[in-house]
Amino acid sequence: MLAIAVLAAGKGTRMKSALPKVLQPLGGATLIERVLRSCQHLSPERQIVIVGHQADQVKASLKHISNLEFVLQKPQNGTGHAIKQVEKELKDFNGQLLVLNGDVPLLSPATLSRLLKEHQNKKPSVTLLTARVDNPIGYGRVFANDEGIVKEIIEDRDCNKEQKKNRLINSGIYCFDWQSLKKVLPKLKDNNSQGELYITDTVAMLSSSRHIEVDDSREVNGINDRKQLSKCEGYLQSKIRDHWMSQGVTFIDPYSCTISDDCQIGKDVVIEPQTHIRGKCLIGDECHIGPGTFLEETTLGERVKAIYSVIRKATIANDVSIGPFAHLRPGSNVDNKSRIGNFVEIKNSQIGMSSKVSHLSYIGDTTLGTEVNIGAGTITANYDGKRKHPTVIGNKSKTGANSVLVAPIVLGQNVTIGAGSTLTKDVPSNALSISRAKQLIKENWIQISSP
Ligand code: UD1
Ligand code: MG
Repeated sequence: MLAIAVLAAGKGTRMKSALPKVLQPLGGATLIERVLRSCQHLSPERQIVIVGHQADQVKASLKHISNLEFVLQKPQNGTGHAIKQVEKELKDFNGQLLVLNGDVPLLSPATLSRLLKEHQNKKPSVTLLTARVDNPIGYGRVFANDEGIVKEIIEDRDCNKEQKKNRLINSGIYCFDWQSLKKVLPKLKDNNSQGELYITDTVAMLSSSRHIEVDDSREVNGINDRKQLSKCEGYLQSKIRDHWMSQGVTFIDPYSCTISDDCQIGKDVVIEPQTHIRGKCLIGDECHIGPGTFLEETTLGERVKAIYSVIRKATIANDVSIGPFAHLRPGSNVDNKSRIGNFVEIKNSQIGMSSKVSHLSYIGDTTLGTEVNIGAGTITANYDGKRKHPTVIGNKSKTGANSVLVAPIVLGQNVTIGAGSTLTKDVPSNALSISRAKQLIKENWIQISSP
């Protein structure tokens, strides 16, 4: 039987933020969410999150994850005090308790599986995950022998000069035999520099404590301040980019791009500098994205080109060209072979196959048929100050430059709109509609005086 406890009650003072530390975002997901994701494959019987500082906010952020139990730690008197809060919840529990720090978000599922396997094989009271690092400052130091048996953990601030030289650090990840841990929890004392109860002190009290070293020490980077947060972001991003490069994606300047870890990218995709892909994005084969493009929760078909553009919650089919400087807002749905050109904003609209909105337009709440040509500067005036109204434009229609279509309005198929028109009435198929003042010419307006 396996139970998991995630320590997430601390304030994160060193972060200097209004947000609780475990809700800081990393690669688009919060730290706590990443920690919970890393252990899902273990199918635990129980998953307990210990909350305290801004508990309601932390709980609310996790409401989409099922089977979580929350335990309140108030006040927050250290990691040992935090784990004491689950005693009641686990009164009748018999098995292993995997304890995860809510601020150690880059653990790989494979590492956790290895920790559990090692614990089950050797059966000590606790197996903890350690790392040997060049710069151990801030971490608890683990004092262990060559057989992997741990004598004690001493926190950085409680170490003397000699002890500080130890580069074997505590990751904050432990697999305990719950019955053994339960017996020593009442013995924890707060005689340390912070006056707190430390979970790390249980290690010296238990009858057998072991450790295993993680293969890649970056996995156990703890996040206590903004510098550590950005270091983890850098590591995560380089892992994601390396993965996609191994799958046939070209990055022209990888370090200038950020990619979320829940997107899918096809083969022979080229990602140009300063391109950012956030949330769940699906990118088809042979797309060319960037430079300077931002995609969020968007689907691109195959061979889409998008340059210096922002595309959010949109669906783009195949062979579409976007930008430079286009803005596709949520609900934009662009069909095959269409073109969205420079300084064009599209919102909640269907753009039919082979249609063109090439220059300086706003298209909102609109359904465009196929092979429509929207002239430069055409605006769908969809808002009357209170409500939004729809525009429908039939197949093969053309709007002249600088047209304003005041919605609700329907243009049939094959309609032609004269440049500079402001239309308030529907136009039937095959018609020409012009709505503008007639051009006036007054000859000899300026009198040329005779010499
Ligand atoms: C802790 C470990 C340290 C280890 C490091 C790894 C202790 C005493 N020290 O130090 O050995 O090297 O993690 O990153 O455990 N928390 C609570 N309640 C509290 C205090 C903290 O739930 O009262 C939670 C925090 O929200 C955080 C986690 O416990 O998620 C760790 O707390 P933190 O203060 O960051 O401990 P570190 O100083 O990093
Ligand atoms: Mg920490």
